Amino acid sequence: MTALLSQSPLNSQSPVIAQSRLVGTGVRVPLVQGGDIDYVNLDYAASAPALREVADHVAALLPLYSSVHRGAGYASQVSTEVYEAARVEVARFVGARPDDVVIFTRNTTDALNLLASAVPGDVVHLDIEHHANLLPWQLRGGRAVVAEPTIEGTLAALEAELRRAPAALVAVTGASNVTGECLPLDLVAAIAHRHGARLAVDGAQLVPHRRIDISRSGVDYLAFSGHKLYAPYGAGVLIGARDWLDAAPPYLAGGGAVRHVGLDGTTWADVPARHEAGTPNVLGAAALAQACRALAARPDGEAPEREEHLLRRLSSGLHALGIEPLRIWPEAADATADGTSRIDVVGIVTFAVPGYDAEQVAAFLSAEHGIGVRDGRFCAHPLLARLTSSATAVRASLGLDSSEADVDRLLSALAALVSDGPRWTYSRIDGQVAPSPETRTLPQFLGGATLRAAAGECDDDPTVV
Ligand SMILES: Cc1ncc(COP(=O)(O)O)c(C=O)c1O
Repeated sequence: MTALLSQSPLNSQSPVIAQSRLVGTGVRVPLVQGGDIDYVNLDYAASAPALREVADHVAALLPLYSSVHRGAGYASQVSTEVYEAARVEVARFVGARPDDVVIFTRNTTDALNLLASAVPGDVVHLDIEHHANLLPWQLRGGRAVVAEPTIEGTLAALEAELRRAPAALVAVTGASNVTGECLPLDLVAAIAHRHGARLAVDGAQLVPHRRIDISRSGVDYLAFSGHKLYAPYGAGVLIGARDWLDAAPPYLAGGGAVRHVGLDGTTWADVPARHEAGTPNVLGAAALAQACRALAARPDGEAPEREEHLLRRLSSGLHALGIEPLRIWPEAADATADGTSRIDVVGIVTFAVPGYDAEQVAAFLSAEHGIGVRDGRFCAHPLLARLTSSATAVRASLGLDSSEADVDRLLSALAALVSDGPRWTYSRIDGQVAPSPETRTLPQFLGGATLRAAAGECDDDPTVV
């Protein structure tokens, strides 16, 4: 299977250069048994820390922060310039066509809901989607296609559905937030276009890991979030063909989205203003654009690529412990086991540890080893229900500052859990598994109280790990 032609790895430079580009790398965190340790962040897929360039850019802008499109003052004019320049930078980063529009949103969820308000017809999507790329379509009667166990089968199922009944839009994820597996977007685009549909891609997990060129791959709409792209300042984006968006009713009604308002009616602005009512998040947009600028400046294409190397190390270490990552398309396992990738997989690994609830594993990794992972169903309930009998799982996700040492810390913590069990006890507190007693505290600048108010006082049945 062809990998996505227009994608290439972002984080391919040597480990030394790649280290500590992010705010927070190397922060010390407390352990429940006492003492502290370097934090291992393996939760980039949920929210990534800020790139230093991004945090510095925002700090430099703050003294000149002001309203956008609404003021004659110098600071206001600078803010307006920064906001509009951010559109251009984001468009360049994803290879947008000259006529594409960049609309700033709060996040991917917001961007896909905006698109859902503008699609003039039926939508076909896969069942493997994050809820952000499932519920907006489900609410308007979208048709879910069940992904087959091979990529070829999945593409054939999509095509069969489009042949059965036409659709205006096919909406798929670029990279699964559960397995990291990537669809070959150029092939999906070709199928959609062959049947008169457009293609929307949920790029929340793809864009932080791969360069995407939407005009080359044929993607008509792309949505992603700043907070997963090392720009955690509250902005996301929808990019794509402007005609549907220009014809749609304003996503939000309010100031900034209009040309003229009378008591008997309103003339709405064209895009992007049409869908950006209210005071825009200029710092969020500037941060997102700065992240694009910083990531675009990185060299890529080196082999073996750094993230793949870490992914292989993690997957084979898990395998040695008898733990197998979840897969939508089992053929993708080749990509991480021996490097002979038939489909592309980004740095996300989700798994279950036999004998333990995912929640217990995550609490143990955090409390006793200072490792942050995500557990649960990852806002992808239909996919989790299909892939695991335990209903929940643990997800480790890699990012720009991930290192071999991080992977090894996770593997040795899991090895200790599998062989000896936890050293602390854990209870269900406020519906969540937590150490009992909890000894860790908030940082002093946040008051220094014990991490959970209920710690040590919970009468729930102990869920000893
Ligand atoms: C694949 C995917 N799509 C969409 C989203 C939603 O992103 P946001 O919460 O930034 O709207 C996520 C978040 O985890 C995701 O992983």
